[in-house]
Amino acid sequence: MAQFTLSLLTAALALASAVQAQCGSGSPQATVTGSGNSFTATKGGSNVYSGSDYRAAIQAALDSISSGQRVAVMASGSIGANTITISSGKIFEGCGTINVGNKAGRGAIESTNTNDVQIPYLTMTGNPYFGLRFSGTKNLSLGKITMNLSGGLAIRFDRDLAANSNVNMDVINVTGAGSHAVETWNIDGLTINSVIAKDVGECGLLLQNTRNAHVKLVDGNNVAAGTGYATFRMANNNGQNANGDYKTNVYIDKVVSRGGGRGVFCVSQSGGVEIGNVDLANNGNNAILIENCYNVNIKSGKVNGGGEVRISARTEFPNTKDININLQVDGTTVRESPCADNSNWTLTGNGQRNIC
Ligand SMILES: *[C@@H]1O[C@H](CO)[C@@H](O)[C@H](O)[C@H]1NC(C)=O
Ligand SMILES: *[C@@H]1O[C@H](CO)[C@@H](O)[C@H](O)[C@H]1NC(C)=O
Ligand SMILES: *[C@@H]1O[C@H](CO)[C@@H](O)[C@H](O)[C@H]1NC(C)=O
Ligand SMILES: *[C@@H]1O[C@H](CO)[C@@H](O)[C@H](O)[C@H]1NC(C)=O
Repeated sequence: MAQFTLSLLTAALALASAVQAQCGSGSPQATVTGSGNSFTATKGGSNVYSGSDYRAAIQAALDSISSGQRVAVMASGSIGANTITISSGKIFEGCGTINVGNKAGRGAIESTNTNDVQIPYLTMTGNPYFGLRFSGTKNLSLGKITMNLSGGLAIRFDRDLAANSNVNMDVINVTGAGSHAVETWNIDGLTINSVIAKDVGECGLLLQNTRNAHVKLVDGNNVAAGTGYATFRMANNNGQNANGDYKTNVYIDKVVSRGGGRGVFCVSQSGGVEIGNVDLANNGNNAILIENCYNVNIKSGKVNGGGEVRISARTEFPNTKDININLQVDGTTVRESPCADNSNWTLTGNGQRNIC
């Protein structure tokens, strides 16, 4: 009995220390307060910055804490075309609205070659090159991230820099990005509760060379309009295991897409993926396009109108292979050309078919 109570208490304490119920709540070790052109950063009651530079106040607060400690940015302001850097073990809460500018090739907030960085809350506006930019992270945690942008790419993991492992995201809500909402490269071990993308220029979620992933929801509304991008796109060997095979290791519970460009797009030697359910309507390009992908299983769902559901292949890569699609398709066509190796369609609905 005593042991049971103790373990419950331990569990409750662990939960309480892991995530604060509200942005800035509890006792963050450092805070940034102020407004307009007057900002103050304090650490444990002592002043570490006073002045007009919002970015400098935030960076001073971050630089004043040590690993395991937390900064809460209570103030809203603009950092301009600059970069805030988060080093290992630090917890960053953006409780005010952080407006950002466009610094070529750089993130408004970056964390590179770090472990155990957490951003439990963030609200960002503006037109960044990259809103958040990462590489070489281990055990990175993003919580409730809301970005209402007027352009730019919201969250980017770099292609040509060090790989990442154990990346966790809760709710990523992006409106107005000119490019992608979330673009990953080189992650082994990724969990996401949801990516919600609205009025986004390119992809909602774009996974590349990422494996051992579980995403509960990708929800796109008017994403990738007029382009070949998609609400959910897998590309560049996504889901290929380290040994080269495509044994299932990417699990997507649900993809919802309305309007925009494509709904679900798998390309360039990606696969190893199981999508539990799709709900796609009125996509301006293919509702689903699977091109040179291997082991793709769409377990259930419906497509209502919009562009054709298509299995395809280009000659530059081995043919599409091991595809299982169980789907209701109404108001649009289904086409398999060229024939995939080992495709298995289970179709209902009124959509015209031309499959192998
Ligand atoms: C990963 O970070 C979380 C906090 O986000 C922490 O609770 C956990 O202990 C870390 N795990 C490892 C393996 O370091
Ligand atoms: C998003 O930002 C735009 C300005 O860029 C603003 O007009 C709009 O009201 C904002 N939307 C929300 C929901 O905050
Ligand atoms: C996403 O963020 C916008 C503000 O940019 C907000 O209006 C909207 O309600 C949010 N959506 C969800 C599902 O949280
Ligand atoms: C084809 O799909 C049906 C329905 O999902 C499934 O029962 C069957 O096992 C699949 N066949 C192959 C060879 O994968």
